[in-house]
Amino acid sequence: MSHVIEAMPDPDFLHVLVTRSAVAPDMLDLRNPAVEEQLRALYTPPRQAWVRMNMIGSLNGRVTGSDGTSDTLSNRADRRILTIIRKMSDAIVVGAETLRNERHLSTRPTWLCVVTSSGNLAGHRISTEDAAASVLVCCPPAARAEVERTLPGAHIHHLESQDGKLPLDGVLTALRDRGLHQIVVEGGNRLISQFLDQGKLDEICLTQAPVFAPNEATSLPGSIAGTKFERELLLEDSAQFLYQRLVTNSPRQSATA
Ligand SMILES: NC(=O)c1ccc[n+]([C@@H]2O[C@H](COP(=O)([O-])OP(=O)(O)OC[C@H]3O[C@@H](n4cnc5c(N)ncnc54)[C@H](OP(=O)(O)O)[C@@H]3O)[C@@H](O)[C@H]2O)c1
Repeated sequence: MSHVIEAMPDPDFLHVLVTRSAVAPDMLDLRNPAVEEQLRALYTPPRQAWVRMNMIGSLNGRVTGSDGTSDTLSNRADRRILTIIRKMSDAIVVGAETLRNERHLSTRPTWLCVVTSSGNLAGHRISTEDAAASVLVCCPPAARAEVERTLPGAHIHHLESQDGKLPLDGVLTALRDRGLHQIVVEGGNRLISQFLDQGKLDEICLTQAPVFAPNEATSLPGSIAGTKFERELLLEDSAQFLYQRLVTNSPRQSATA
């Protein structure tokens, strides 16, 4: 376990406040190894082709705490759920600023897909070997040399920009063409807002930390789409963090793509 996670608050149980599962227990003991399987059951998506977001926010809707990253908002239960969702996913998608600012480590064996226009990915902590095993960068052709310089070893998929941005359909197709169907988008604000506006998310996983964060920190993503999500699950840990899982019943625009 990394020093950062070791230093985080360590809740010992989760209350199940809302669930649609008839067999979910009322309480999950985070010290019991069986909890991994119980959490997997609560977070399993209904089908293999599935796109969800997973983020943590403060009471004032900010995504970074006093250290300028999400580490100071999070706790060990949140990281445990994040890890379980990652392990159930074929690929994690992030915007380049998240990779740079969160100083991303390898997510091997789950693929990490980074979306960038600039190609400048400096700031991550991923080795060349790990990048070759499990990192895919989607970028315009002109950014290739910069990606090779700042994230050596990574696989590169070229997409043509439309109005200055890479098309999300192109990103999702690049993943599906590699057999990667179960996808979690972990941030940040700007990338997820595009997923929301274009109706590309089946599910929202959102942790709320019971603290306020600096006003100047980046906020949770916004959207003009007004998509309504319905709550499937609400957990509260013993440190009073809330964990919501919401799904949309609207057919996702990319469902048949
Ligand atoms: N609390 C949490 O759960 C959580 C999770 C993740 C991130 N975060 C925080 O969120 C912040 C980052 O969020 P953010 O909104 O600033 O950035 P972001 O969405 O992570 O990344 C934005 C960057 O991604 C690239 N990008 C996004 N959409 C693109 C598209 N369609 N085509 C091409 N490139 C695209 C661009 O990279 P280039 O600039 O390289 O062109 C853009 O500048 C950081 O502070 C991070 O620590 C928090």
